[in-house]
Amino acid sequence: MKTLKDLKDLKGKRILVRVDFNVPLKNGKIDDDNRIIQALPTINYLVGSGARVILFSHLGKIDYKKATPEELKAQKAKNNLKVVAERLSEIMKQPVVFSEVTTGKELDDKVAALQDAEVLLVQNTRYEKGEEKNDPDLSASWAKLGDVFVMDAFGSAHRAHASTYGIPELLKKDGKPVAIGFLVEKEVHALSRVVNVKNSDRPYLAILGGLKVSDKIKVIDLLLEKCDKIIIGGAMAYTFQRARGFTTGNSPVEESQLDYARECLAKAKDRIVLPLDAMASDAFSPEARTVNFPTVNENIPEGFEGLDIGPKTIKLFQAEIAKAKMVFWNGPMGVFEQKEFIKGTAAVCEAIASLKGVFSVIGGGDSASAAKKLGYFDKFSHVSTGGGASLEMIENNGHLPGIDIIGD
Ligand code: 3PG
Repeated sequence: MKTLKDLKDLKGKRILVRVDFNVPLKNGKIDDDNRIIQALPTINYLVGSGARVILFSHLGKIDYKKATPEELKAQKAKNNLKVVAERLSEIMKQPVVFSEVTTGKELDDKVAALQDAEVLLVQNTRYEKGEEKNDPDLSASWAKLGDVFVMDAFGSAHRAHASTYGIPELLKKDGKPVAIGFLVEKEVHALSRVVNVKNSDRPYLAILGGLKVSDKIKVIDLLLEKCDKIIIGGAMAYTFQRARGFTTGNSPVEESQLDYARECLAKAKDRIVLPLDAMASDAFSPEARTVNFPTVNENIPEGFEGLDIGPKTIKLFQAEIAKAKMVFWNGPMGVFEQKEFIKGTAAVCEAIASLKGVFSVIGGGDSASAAKKLGYFDKFSHVSTGGGASLEMIENNGHLPGIDIIGD
């Protein structure tokens, strides 16, 4: 697979770069610009080579299936990439041309006017209904704007959309070069190690949390084949506790996944490690009563919802983490956004971060935000920019459509 360094004579060339600028927004402002920062090595390299850089990204979700025309308008307004163009320009200390439109003459003119070493960001690719459908006409209208395509959106590489898949497919057919960028190269290198496990990286521990078991079904199956142990915390643990026959009060349980959870437990035996206790609250608010149920496996009473792991579980998880040679972590242990329920996630994060000589990977999403919030970001061997993408990469044994298409 070609990487950025394999591309020659970039001066004056129009390079289409798919980045993942799907950054979290709060009140219309960028809440975390990590994904922009992580895309800079590729963008700066291209600018330094005198190329004309045309960036594509999606931002947020636009629901063409259910939204009314007014709702669609509101979703587009909320997910306008202009704030990202402004932030990128500040960080790069150079102007970034922004195209308000995603296709048509206005965009074509802006691309034609672009000079060497200039950067243009195209409006949110999901403003186009055809983006998620990988619509061939849409892909063609974008592909014709460039001489070369660079895939650097690791976070979106599990989506075979027009901007991640359709464009490189068409450029390849035309014999034009396509390559992966520096971020994708770094991500693939790190994540390959947790997919193709060496004996020297054992014991290999996976820590899964977050809400939905159904989102992580295939990954649990695959991780059971690859890992020595899997810790399951966060809200998804309650489905497993219920599958064991324990009461879970008002905690979220995916009834449809109970059989699957039972199968996993039977297959894994003692290789799946579940919480011993929980911090549960009688209302999801800072004023609520929070109680530690030490035998929560048997009893979270009705009216209480588990929102974090408890102190006994923290000790158990710390002991497991201390034995590991390689750790993959995806998903918080509780509702870490609220200070009352951050302890479990903080303890797990700190325990992994303080390991010495261990290869530690955070699989993006909320656990990466938690590590950043807690100040442990730099203490991990790799923090992925892709939550869904890193899980799918494990599920698919190292393959993602947006990266595979770049290969021969
Ligand atoms: C992400 O944030 O995981 C990626 O940007 C992909 O976003 P999506 O789940 O909306 O496709």
